Amino acid sequence: KIVPVILCGGSGTRLWPRSRKTKPKPFLPLIGERTMFEATLGRCADAAQFAPPVVVTGTDHLEHVEDQSKAAPGATVIVEPQAKNTAAAIALAAARLPQDAVMLVCPSDHHIADEQAFRAAAAAAARLAAEDWLVAFGITATAPETGYGYIRRGEALQGGYRVESFVEKPDLDRARQFLADGNYSWNGGIFAFRAGNFLEELARHRPALAAAVQAAVAGGREDGARFHPDAAAFAAIVSESVDYAVMEQTGRAAMVPASMGWSDIGSWAALRDATDGDHDGNSVRGRAELVDCRGVLVDSDGPRVSVIGLQDVAIVVDGDEVLVTSMEGAQKVGKLGGAANQ
Ligand code: GDD
Ligand code: MG
Repeated sequence: KIVPVILCGGSGTRLWPRSRKTKPKPFLPLIGERTMFEATLGRCADAAQFAPPVVVTGTDHLEHVEDQSKAAPGATVIVEPQAKNTAAAIALAAARLPQDAVMLVCPSDHHIADEQAFRAAAAAAARLAAEDWLVAFGITATAPETGYGYIRRGEALQGGYRVESFVEKPDLDRARQFLADGNYSWNGGIFAFRAGNFLEELARHRPALAAAVQAAVAGGREDGARFHPDAAAFAAIVSESVDYAVMEQTGRAAMVPASMGWSDIGSWAALRDATDGDHDGNSVRGRAELVDCRGVLVDSDGPRVSVIGLQDVAIVVDGDEVLVTSMEGAQKVGKLGGAANQ
């Protein structure tokens, strides 16, 4: 069975004021009833396909994680002494698993509309992973986004492609080239590989990182469903994401195309686009009255919000903070003083 490895780190500021340091994006019900973390667990809950999940998170988020993973039988948590980015987080989980186990690495802050398509892609990825590929999920690129990794498709494999090149977060010029080229997909941030294959590639390309993680696991201690890696060994790690440390380097990368209504909900604009709005494309959460509005998002945790005659605007009320932004400006929310000094 596939072992889901759920990554829960990072503290997005782009969905401020709803997302705060103390309660970041994965733990908020932004779309529907479930939080993104709960939805991520839910996607990997089918016991016929998946083993119980391993969640990798920091002490900051441990309470939310344990609170929201009660419905996931057998879930275990690896508690990072500090955030060292995704290469280390994934390696911790890999070092704790049987080396031939196929793991499915899932970020906990994505929205996936079509869960059946997700599970089909996971099955295809797991088949390639069992043939010793390091498999990424490819998402159809629709804009020259610079916040994503880009995957160039190579020769066809069973259910996917060999990765000819992987470029993490290109500048805008290159992103435009990749989009125009037509042979590139976005990296969805979801990966499948055998634990041992991942650690082998990490040791080949980042030997110090791999050794430090192995030492942190060897010196770690178990506490019920929690595992605490050795803090001193972990502190020696240089932060790097899996995309730079492994996926850009390895010659064993493959990709499965995944058409599953994926969005990383990186802004209020993306959240509006991922929700089923009314017939004018407005998306409302909480109490609001909209007249002659189009493409307006309102999310209020209390006060009633009344809006007339606006287009492509987000209005978010959270406690004593109110955000009003154009959808274009929504990318800059993280730069606001309120978001930076929360
Ligand atoms: N446990 C743990 N520890 N989780 C972490 C850490 C950490 O130190 N750092 C990040 N994460 C989690 C985040 O919470 C998120 O769920 C996931 O790992 C990915 O990290 P991000 O920081 O959100 O990465 P990104 O969005 O810049 O880029 C990645 O995702 C894109 C798709 O959304 C890359 O994989 C890109 O190539 C990809 O296109
Ligand atoms: Mg992200």
